[in-house]
Amino acid sequence: MKTIKIGLLGMGNIGTGTYKTLEMNRNEIEATLDRKVEIVKILEKDTERDRGVTVPKEKFTQDPDEIFNDPDIDIVIELLGGIEPATTFMLTAMKKGKHVVTANKAAIAANYHQLMDTAKENHIAFKFEASVGGGIPILGTLLGPLRANKFQEVMGILNGTTNYILHMMTKEGMDYDVALKDAQAQGFAEADPTADVEGIDAANKLTILMALMFDKYVAPEDIPTTGITGITSEKIEEARSNKCKIKLIAHAWKDDAGEIKYEVRPMYISETHPLANINKEFNAVFVKGNAVDDVMFYGKGAGPLPTGSAVLGDVIDIAKTVLR
Ligand code: HSE
Repeated sequence: MKTIKIGLLGMGNIGTGTYKTLEMNRNEIEATLDRKVEIVKILEKDTERDRGVTVPKEKFTQDPDEIFNDPDIDIVIELLGGIEPATTFMLTAMKKGKHVVTANKAAIAANYHQLMDTAKENHIAFKFEASVGGGIPILGTLLGPLRANKFQEVMGILNGTTNYILHMMTKEGMDYDVALKDAQAQGFAEADPTADVEGIDAANKLTILMALMFDKYVAPEDIPTTGITGITSEKIEEARSNKCKIKLIAHAWKDDAGEIKYEVRPMYISETHPLANINKEFNAVFVKGNAVDDVMFYGKGAGPLPTGSAVLGDVIDIAKTVLR
């Protein structure tokens, strides 16, 4: 039985979640592919951390070229996070003929065309389902089952950390700082949580959604963005007295003239609206297509295992469709 060999760049929270998901569901994954799947090399400095999973020491390397130059590696999974060196590493892997899977919304949003073009030029698959909505299969659905539509709007909660913080402040009366620490401890937050709380992570995801839905690239820094750092318990109480909850909403839509508008900001959402009842690290996204009308996606938008699920879904897809 052939083995699909994977090089993993980064074994932080999401790398660990991906490794654990593979160990947990190996039998089913290998049965569906009729092939073995092995993470053969891992680029990671921290080889001592207790990850709750046993990783043979010899898999670790500190030299990315050991992965790029290994002719047996079929797929590179990039889970370093951040724009660099992640983008350069993905481009290098592509030029070496490796298929690339990533969860890295910051790198994709910053370098969308370069990554897409390099993948195309090198005839490799580049997949990034985990970059938007964590475990929610939204990107593949937009590009597959919903492809027959002209899209008109996307609106939703795209960041698990801020939704967790707002939920804990609203429901449990928790302080902002305590809720943020809790979100970090559970592996929802970015390495630098500024990207979460300032709305930058949600803007990165909106950039990716707009590129796929409207074929329009808008750099994340050009999206008017307000985060949740100004949300106090007083504002939450004020919303409550108006029968609303505060949610960080990413929104892009075509106006009557066909022009695309976009923003990320905290909004008052009526308690009766479905988005008001999206709790903790869950995400929810409405998409409107001209044929299908409204579609709503819901699921865990952050966390090691939900994100690992999406990463491995891309690996399985590549193995089934490209690596025949
Ligand atoms: N920090 C991100 C979030 C991780 O909280 O949504 C998932 O992209």
